[in-house]
Amino acid sequence: MPIRSRITGTGMAVPECVVTNELLSRCMSTSDEWIVQRTGIRERRVSPDTYRMLLRLAEAPDKTAFMRDVQARGLDGNIDSSLTVSDLAVEASRMALKNAGLSPADLDCIVESSTLPDFAYPATGCVTQGKLGLTTTPVFNLAQGCAGFVYGLALADQFIRGGMYKRVLVIGAELLSSAFDYTDAGRDMAILFADGGGAAVLEAHEATGAEPRGLISHHLHSDGSAIDALMGEIWGSSTFPPVSKKKIDDGRPWPRMNGRAVFVHAVRRVREVVQESLDANGLLADDIDLFIFHQANLRIVESMAESFKISESRMHNNIQRYGNTAGASVPICLHEAVMGGRMKEGDLVMLVAFGTGFSWGATLLRW
Ligand code: UT7
Repeated sequence: MPIRSRITGTGMAVPECVVTNELLSRCMSTSDEWIVQRTGIRERRVSPDTYRMLLRLAEAPDKTAFMRDVQARGLDGNIDSSLTVSDLAVEASRMALKNAGLSPADLDCIVESSTLPDFAYPATGCVTQGKLGLTTTPVFNLAQGCAGFVYGLALADQFIRGGMYKRVLVIGAELLSSAFDYTDAGRDMAILFADGGGAAVLEAHEATGAEPRGLISHHLHSDGSAIDALMGEIWGSSTFPPVSKKKIDDGRPWPRMNGRAVFVHAVRRVREVVQESLDANGLLADDIDLFIFHQANLRIVESMAESFKISESRMHNNIQRYGNTAGASVPICLHEAVMGGRMKEGDLVMLVAFGTGFSWGATLLRW
């Protein structure tokens, strides 16, 4: 009997602090109207440190000087974060494990993708694993940006189908808000991205019946010729030394994005990979009961809905409430869809993501 991987538990975590478009428009030249119209976002969650900083920035007469001061001295002289990306990963993981009826010790393996890690090294998955109280469980770390969770599912599925592991936890967690320039200079990214974590437990099951439940196929791609379109140089071996005062003075720790170029690529690649997944499985878009797209920008999702004639009832979107949480957006949407009873047994579900790298992919599964 062939083995299939099934998602048996999902979880999510978002920080409590809510940042409205109105608060952002007190920090930079933007408006609720612009953000809603161009992205669909109404509010997002950020770490308590980012939230405290934004409240202060909103009152600062010279925004650029304030951000420079935070870069130089931290917030009120403190540079330690009160919430890290592994904290979000752990919270989402515990929820996913609980919903699967498992404890951390039941896991054979963990796969985590996070764009901005707790540390340059060790990798965040190891930090998460330690916080889950584990000492020998293997950990794979991905840094596939917004496509990280979809890449993670593909990897975990291969381990399970190949018989190496029976229970794998896949995590997509992001804490990006602490690394944006919230002045006019960084407004394109600062209004878009936010913090959150999502996780899913995959378990081995014997495939029974003509249409067995579980993960069906994965379609993954990357294009390393486009790294400049969306990049964060915060630290790394591309500068010597990786962190320097000059780097800060030159503004290079701030991430940068060519929003229009990313938008165009995202629309093209997401459309292609959805079609690739449908073709590989002999399906039409109409056969998919629920689409979960990475919440990059509501306009990108709407463009997909138009191309494939997907009604709102066959999609789950939450960018309005959480912004673009990068690699966490697909698992957060998945968790909400599960909790909201959006899928019934036997439904076909497609998860699709695109992001930095560029990297993109689609996972088809039968719920
Ligand atoms: O998740 C990973 C992948 N990431 C994405 O998929 C993001 C893709 N890109 C986007 O979502 C959009 O490109 C953005 C939301 C980032 C920007 O929206 P846009 O409609 O592409 O705007 P634009 O960059 O073409 O800028 C249009 C105008 C510009 O002014 P001018 O040059 O026309 O005078 C910008 O300077 O809007 C200006 N602008 C803003 N105005 C108010 C840019 N950001 C803002 C802002 N508020 N926050």
